[in-house]
Amino acid sequence: MREIGIGIIGTGFMGTAHALALATAARLFDLPARPRFEMVVDPDPARAETLARRFGFARHHTDWRALVEDPAVDLVSVTTPNHLHAPMSLAAIAAGKAVWCEKPLAPTTREAVAMARAAEEARVATAVGFNYLKNPLVRFARELLAAGEIGEIWSFRGIHAEDYMADPELPWSWRLDPVAGGGVVADLGSHIVALARFLVGEIAEVNGDLSTVVGERPKAPGAAERVPVEVDDVARALLRFSSGAGGSIEASWVAAGRKMHLAFEVTGSRGALRLDMERLNELHLFVRGGPAGREGFVEIPAGPDHPDYAAFCPAPGHQIGFNDMKAIEARYVVEAVAGGRPFTPDFGEAAAVQAVIDAIRLSAREGGWRRPAELLYEAGGSP
Ligand SMILES: NC(=O)c1ccc[n+]([C@@H]2O[C@H](COP(=O)([O-])OP(=O)(O)OC[C@H]3O[C@@H](n4cnc5c(N)ncnc54)[C@H](O)[C@@H]3O)[C@@H](O)[C@H]2O)c1
Repeated sequence: MREIGIGIIGTGFMGTAHALALATAARLFDLPARPRFEMVVDPDPARAETLARRFGFARHHTDWRALVEDPAVDLVSVTTPNHLHAPMSLAAIAAGKAVWCEKPLAPTTREAVAMARAAEEARVATAVGFNYLKNPLVRFARELLAAGEIGEIWSFRGIHAEDYMADPELPWSWRLDPVAGGGVVADLGSHIVALARFLVGEIAEVNGDLSTVVGERPKAPGAAERVPVEVDDVARALLRFSSGAGGSIEASWVAAGRKMHLAFEVTGSRGALRLDMERLNELHLFVRGGPAGREGFVEIPAGPDHPDYAAFCPAPGHQIGFNDMKAIEARYVVEAVAGGRPFTPDFGEAAAVQAVIDAIRLSAREGGWRRPAELLYEAGGSP
């Protein structure tokens, strides 16, 4: 059986998630190629060694350039802070390797477009880690919307709220760096924008508002010195979709009590669909016209009739989790690298997501409705 040499850069939350996802996908799905764990990289050698040992990587290193130049590596997972995605991905692409990069693809639309173009020219497969799009119920929701189950789509209301930055004493980290992290609009906003596009389509115009609610933070853990926060903690935007539907999104990393509140409600002329990733195995569907006194949302539990669920469990209602969505993502990454269907969202789609984020930033800064397609075009991409 054909093998694909795997290289993972970064050993944090996502580095571990990519390794686990590939290991799981290799066992649960009939993949066209077997992942072979070649090399893992982290500037901290102990962390690199630990991940290598746990997942059986042949080698580990502290310099990512050694990984992208290694002839045994075919697929490079980029799971580092956002500002490193572009240099690492571009070097991997130049070496002819496929890239599975974490979201958001890059700090700016210009860099994201350059990455997409480089991949297109080198004809290498690319994938971006918008893992919530791989939730079986989100894909089922998309099928229902396409089949007209709730009629003409009128509106999308989306939120991605968590509280991992809510404590004002939390020290400065790469997520607060305007380039390396880019604020919540990039960190969580990219997920909800990707979801809005996946379910309702192209976003034609946005009107954004960004706010910083924790004005300064300790410079380092336990430090008395405080530094100003230059990125947004809360992002809000009104949306106009190309289809004519309207909508709104909010992203917050200071939403007390919220741990994974990535939720949407799509409303149409005949009904509505809603889902909250804090209960990711429950889709709620409402179709107008039920018997008097009994109208309401119906809960659909995830089950083997929904895309890819059956690989994990033959019984409905038994529930899959975050790492399972990542394993589904890994399935399609390997299929794309082995020459099957192109992965979606690839770098081109992720550049379009980035253009929406930059349009929200521009609108928040200078006012007015802004068109993501214009930013994409200015950055050298095709709207
Ligand atoms: N898809 C998702 O649901 C999801 C969730 C969390 C984070 N992310 C994204 O994943 C990326 C990483 O986030 P994380 O939460 O895993 O962060 P993390 O801080 O847990 O891990 C980052 C890793 O990158 C490594 N690193 C930093 N500089 C490096 C360098 N020069 N060379 C090699 N390794 C380097 C760090 O040592 C660390 O292992 C970000 O882009 C983030 O937006 C995606």
